[in-house]
Amino acid sequence: MSDARHMKLPRGERRRVLLASTLALTACNVAVGSQQGYEPVQPVAFSHAQHAGEFKIDCLYCHFGAERSRHAGVPPVQVCMNCHTQVKKDAPEVQKLSTAMDAGTPIQWVKVHRLPDHAYLNHSSHVAAGLKCQQCHGPVETMVRVQQVETMAMGWCLDCHRTTATAPDNWKKLAPPTDCSACHR
Ligand code: HEC
Ligand code: HEC
Ligand code: HEC
Ligand code: HEC
Ligand code: HEC
Repeated sequence: MSDARHMKLPRGERRRVLLASTLALTACNVAVGSQQGYEPVQPVAFSHAQHAGEFKIDCLYCHFGAERSRHAGVPPVQVCMNCHTQVKKDAPEVQKLSTAMDAGTPIQWVKVHRLPDHAYLNHSSHVAAGLKCQQCHGPVETMVRVQQVETMAMGWCLDCHRTTATAPDNWKKLAPPTDCSACHR
């Protein structure tokens, strides 16, 4: 039982020990944080330009998690079938959806954005503060294939946190945190 969780330390101190050890581990991971411009091919040719751009389907219709929880999430195939049991049901890319639905297997979407495990971002608090998805993800409604636009590095988070806090039009008195333990918990 030499685990930091079992040591008799005050809460803040315990947290610092945990933080130091996680950060030491991730310092060796070179790949983390270098994903800007990443644009993987997806198993189904789903287009945001078509659905969110041309047809103006609300982001939250599919990413309903963003309003309520840490993760925005990717919609289950049932959400797609709200329309596609009728719309374009004979198109080969749409048939991949009905096949998955019948088999009860989820579509294996490739994740585009990913923070390292030691960093914490909660969608619901940013959406509640009035931020638009596009401030962090770029003009997704013009993308045929989703691309990571921003660096999503620590400096990028902090830049917005500092400018928001000191902005002259910050009438809501938003106070985004800049202390380590807010984002590393
Ligand atoms: C403050 C910046 C910010 C805002 C605003 C934001 N996102 Fe994100 N989003 C991120 C980051 C950072 C990640 C990676 C999260 C992780 O790996 O834990 C992410 C991940 C995602 C993912 C991948 C799945 C997931 O939940 O991790 C989806 C989908 C997504 N965002 C959609 C949205 C939508 C839709 C909105 C608007 C309703 C939105 N985001 C607003 C920063 C943001
Ligand atoms: C609110 C209705 C609606 C929802 C929900 C919806 N779509 Fe669509 N989708 C459409 C419409 C409308 C078209 C264009 C049909 C046309 O070109 O006539 C389309 C087109 C497509 C196409 C292109 C088909 C082709 O070959 O022309 C694919 C693939 C697709 N959708 C996948 C999805 C996926 C995956 C989801 C769920 C994440 C989804 N759709 C959710 C309405 C919807
Ligand atoms: C019809 C459903 C639908 C709508 C509407 C929709 N999305 Fe998505 N979104 C998806 C699906 C399915 C994926 C996973 C496949 C992909 O990356 O294209 C996805 C992926 C994403 C990702 C990348 C997730 C990751 O892996 O990091 C982001 C960011 C995102 N959407 C943002 C948005 C924003 C912003 C809007 C509104 C402008 C929006 N989406 C509207 C279905 C939708
Ligand atoms: C607003 C959120 C936020 C705050 C506040 C914050 N960080 Fe970070 N930090 C991140 C994110 C996101 C990453 C992962 C992306 C990256 O590596 O830049 C990260 C990465 C790191 C890394 C790993 C860098 C690497 O190269 O792998 C260290 C070490 C770190 N932070 C230390 C700190 C310390 C010490 C503080 C307090 C002085 C702090 N952070 C405050 C968001 C934050
Ligand atoms: C475009 C501006 C912007 C960016 C970029 C941004 N934030 Fe924030 N963040 C905010 C605002 C605004 C708040 C809300 C402050 C409030 O409600 O007082 C916030 C609040 C937070 C909080 C405290 C609330 C909570 O959810 O616990 C954390 C933690 C946080 N952000 C982490 C991050 C991390 C990690 C990143 C980068 C991956 C990031 N933020 C990027 C604007 C931003």
